[in-house]
Amino acid sequence: MKRKLLGALLSTAMVASLAVGCGGGNDAAPADAPAETEAPAETETPAEAETPAEDATADADDAAPAAGGKIGISMPTQSLERWNRDGAYLDEQFKAAGFETILTYSDDKTEQQVNDIQNMLADGVDMLVIAAIDGNALNTALEGAAEQNIPVISYDRLILNDAASYYVSFDNYTVGKLQGEYIVKALDLENAGDKTYNIEITAGDPADNNATYFYQGAIDAIQPYLDNGALNIVSGQKDFDAVATPGWKTDTALGRAQNVLSSYYADGTQLDAWLCSNDSTALGVTQAVTSDYAGSNTVVITGQDGDEANLKNIVDGTQTMTVYKNVSNESVVTLALAKAILAGESIDESLIPSFGIECAFDTESYETSAGNKCPSFLLVPNVITKDNLQDLVDTGLYTMGDDGYLSATN
Ligand code: GAL
Repeated sequence: MKRKLLGALLSTAMVASLAVGCGGGNDAAPADAPAETEAPAETETPAEAETPAEDATADADDAAPAAGGKIGISMPTQSLERWNRDGAYLDEQFKAAGFETILTYSDDKTEQQVNDIQNMLADGVDMLVIAAIDGNALNTALEGAAEQNIPVISYDRLILNDAASYYVSFDNYTVGKLQGEYIVKALDLENAGDKTYNIEITAGDPADNNATYFYQGAIDAIQPYLDNGALNIVSGQKDFDAVATPGWKTDTALGRAQNVLSSYYADGTQLDAWLCSNDSTALGVTQAVTSDYAGSNTVVITGQDGDEANLKNIVDGTQTMTVYKNVSNESVVTLALAKAILAGESIDESLIPSFGIECAFDTESYETSAGNKCPSFLLVPNVITKDNLQDLVDTGLYTMGDDGYLSATN
């Protein structure tokens, strides 16, 4: 198909697709949007996102014939391990499917992310895939996207501005729930009898919309045991604001954990569990427990992401579990969704079989600041412990060395 015709079809298709995005569409469509809003009956872009279920890397041979177009991929930071993986997979997948890409990392600085996105728009991107540093801070950049009728996929973290079109993530509430449930099982709280176990909590970045979902899922799982006295937060620090970790920073989590340990546990009080929302914070907490906790019992410590240093701690027994999110699969779903949007297909659960990856279409759980529901594709997270590390190796995304430690393959 001639590029010009494809371009015209894409722009019509984008209007149609945006019309059912997070903001309900009206805000997203530009004032001078083309009048015709019907999606083309047929385009030469194949409807099927030919992405294999297990093999997360799109095969260049299987890829759609150059759907064409330029994709701006805006990631938050390289200082947290997972985003390096996300950026690399997204870049690889989109390129293999025939797209041009621009990949940026914004060093966890919101102004820089706004700038990076504005540069992408000036560079003529056809779509934006954004993992926001701060879900509330991208208004200026996204107004620009809406004016140019550029669809935006909120990647992993919800953008709260209505110009975002769709959301691809993991079930964030379930991530927290798995962490909380793990602690309930590990301490056998159902059979605690008169015994009381002591716990502390470290949550994530208040600017990251996911952080409260992780926190709430975990709290809901342990709340019955806080209520019946089987669990006790010795520091009394439970509210999200009291336990949050700006920027998900390891050092911040370490500093607070050291304070808590010296203020509440130096007298020999036993610490049984530390609920951490992710691996970067778990790393700090584990370090504090290893160096500053006087007790000799094993402290159950949770995490999320499967960062290499944390997987090593799991092998060594200093961290107990992590909730693993296969971000290669997240990029496969994102690519398939992007293709569907650009092809003007209707975006709903009927797309899921073409992803070849287990996920749910959820139109209720995520809202923008204006209270509009954001249609979301949510993948399934998994618990990883010392006992099932082989599951990670089986994804092909990690290898296990002779020492039993795992290394990521990208
Ligand atoms: C969250 C993300 C987690 C974790 C955290 C810190 O938004 O969903 O997987 O990585 O940020 O980067």
